[in-house]
Amino acid sequence: MKKKIAVIAGDGIGPEIVGEAVRVLKKVAKKFGHTFVLDEKLVGGAAYDAVGDCLPDDTLKACQQADAVLLGAVGGPKWDKLPGPQRPEKRALLTLRKELGLFANLRPAKVWDPLKSASPLKPEIVGEGLDLLVVRELTGGVYFGEHSRAADGQSALDKMPYSVMEIERIARVAFESARKRHSHVTCVDKANVLETSRLWREVVQRVHDADYATVDLDFMYVDNAAMQLVRAPSRFDVILTENMFGDILSDEASQITGSIGMLPSASLRADGFGMYEPIHGSAPDIAGLGIANPLATILSAAMMLRHTFGLTQEADAVEAAVGQVLAAGDRTVDIATADAAALSTHDMGTAVVEAL
Ligand code: IPM
Ligand code: MG
Repeated sequence: MKKKIAVIAGDGIGPEIVGEAVRVLKKVAKKFGHTFVLDEKLVGGAAYDAVGDCLPDDTLKACQQADAVLLGAVGGPKWDKLPGPQRPEKRALLTLRKELGLFANLRPAKVWDPLKSASPLKPEIVGEGLDLLVVRELTGGVYFGEHSRAADGQSALDKMPYSVMEIERIARVAFESARKRHSHVTCVDKANVLETSRLWREVVQRVHDADYATVDLDFMYVDNAAMQLVRAPSRFDVILTENMFGDILSDEASQITGSIGMLPSASLRADGFGMYEPIHGSAPDIAGLGIANPLATILSAAMMLRHTFGLTQEADAVEAAVGQVLAAGDRTVDIATADAAALSTHDMGTAVVEAL
């Protein structure tokens, strides 16, 4: 199989972790006889420094023309003073999501067996392990509603629009995902207050009754969901939610697994095209030190193989290699125990490449 991948490493630890994921992809290509053509482009603050725009035209074009996009992270204190619309988060990340039509964000959060003790939750709560999937709507809601400040500067407004079409298509992604897992969707909202949430409930229920009646469906207010995630996380299988609630709950879900450095994500369009990135940020405090955990990005590359390229065996092989290095005791500093020496970013990448 021949595929073109736009590689946009971005800022902070982005280039370090993406470098390791690229090595893994190259090993997969070699081992399984594929050709991955990598098109490396600037994005985020790095692009701003080079050409004055966090999302240069040729980067957007390269992403549009690729079969999939591998992204590291964008942003950092250096660019925090840029006006809102020019900031890396808005100009690069949110524009990419919108322009590429990536409405479905899959964020699996699972506790890897060898890392059980890294979870801050009590062992009796972690139990046999935690494995849930946040399905976050990614191109609507308050992130993309009108943002404005009154002329006198005394008030501000962020609108949170949602259409039936937007809710319906993400609901289908959640139900389809649940069918491949434990057949249980929890729709998380704030229907006791928000009109958009009441529309979500109606649409999600209708889609369920019409096409997914065999999947269990329940509804939960977001404040309660935040509580249940640490109180009884194993009650969840698939969490379906709108953009901002999904942002917040996915960070919380990542922490119960032990390290945000382990969590991959896929941002998908209906035709399967996707952008893949770790859910963590650019971590400017450790950028350049060579100590960042590359596993979330490597696992994101595995999601690319699975979801966009349909390469199940290859994706399984990468995930198995990650499981193998963890079982062997390889740890970067974020998941290391006090007594063990931690591997560098590059050495962790090497361990995965070798396990493959
Ligand atoms: C994420 C991030 C982004 C988001 C930020 C960087 C804009 O937190 O992908 O979760 O809020 O979506
Ligand atoms: Mg976030």
